[in-house]
Amino acid sequence: MLCSYSPKLFFILLLHLFLANAEPIPSLPNLRKLSFHEGYTQIFGDNNLMLHHEGKKVHISLDERTGSGFRSQESYLHGFFSASIKLPSDYTAGVVVAFYMSNGDVYEKTHDELDFEFLGNVRGKDWRIQTNVYGNGSTSVGREERYGLWFDPTEDFHQYSILWTYNNIIFYVDDTPIREVERIPSSGAYFPSKPMSLYATIWDGSQWATSGGRYKVNYKYAPYIAEFTDLVLHTCGNHQALPCGSASLLSPEQRLSMESFRRRYMTYGYCYDRIRYPVPLAECHVGPERELYLMSGELRAYERRRHMKRRSWRGTADPGF
Ligand SMILES: *[C@@H]1O[C@H](CO)[C@@H](O)[C@H](O)[C@H]1NC(C)=O
Repeated sequence: MLCSYSPKLFFILLLHLFLANAEPIPSLPNLRKLSFHEGYTQIFGDNNLMLHHEGKKVHISLDERTGSGFRSQESYLHGFFSASIKLPSDYTAGVVVAFYMSNGDVYEKTHDELDFEFLGNVRGKDWRIQTNVYGNGSTSVGREERYGLWFDPTEDFHQYSILWTYNNIIFYVDDTPIREVERIPSSGAYFPSKPMSLYATIWDGSQWATSGGRYKVNYKYAPYIAEFTDLVLHTCGNHQALPCGSASLLSPEQRLSMESFRRRYMTYGYCYDRIRYPVPLAECHVGPERELYLMSGELRAYERRRHMKRRSWRGTADPGF
């Protein structure tokens, strides 16, 4: 019977709760937030970078003169890197906001990089977010993935995080892990392995950002302002706060929520792109879900699915993974 509580079911429920609480990272670690001056420095854009609330909030903007950006003062080998970001709203085609780690300034030919890139859109269409990984100068081999989101990233702050350890890289949006990259023997040198700095920039990506460059930045709507707060830079040195040494950083529940996110929201995956990669790269596990993607790696019917979902979810803040 569905509605009677069996002792066995109760036990399973308890076990489930127990396991859920015994995780290395139940949700995201609660780490100290830095003010701008404690951890960052401006790299370009003169007064298109503005500090608010004693440097706890940073606005970077793009206008017809320049974009702007900042970076961490130090570089880090492994750790947790995070910011709450609110993206510019309205017409943003061609605008790119990037939140990423790189050591391209130190290693010109063999640099490593971990990217969150936010790609603006024409009015009425949502921002897309992209993640990417380069290691040891593997810039000719893109490992891009793009996703929709279950919220409007221009309406409120949402937390975007990268956990990078010796064995794993996990990208998070709020509490939801959206992508995991594991160090496996076949990943060769593409798994980032040298210290990187954290960057946040806004720039004119007219050449490629929106529908492959079909829509340009329209400066009639400038300035485009991206807001950053809750800045976190935390190395793996402190084992209390971050489980950097553990082999698996995701609990079974977190893994399910990641898979559920990817099923619902991934709109492009390099593992499905048969034009660029007729043979999927070694780390790709491609199953029957590949039928949902075109030869180009783009999801066949994202817009339709998104609108169906929007209708049925109206009014709920819960992503419901
Ligand atoms: C990284 O690339 C350089 C230059 O191509 C190469 O010499 C080096 O062995 C590579 N590193 C690893 C860890 O494979």
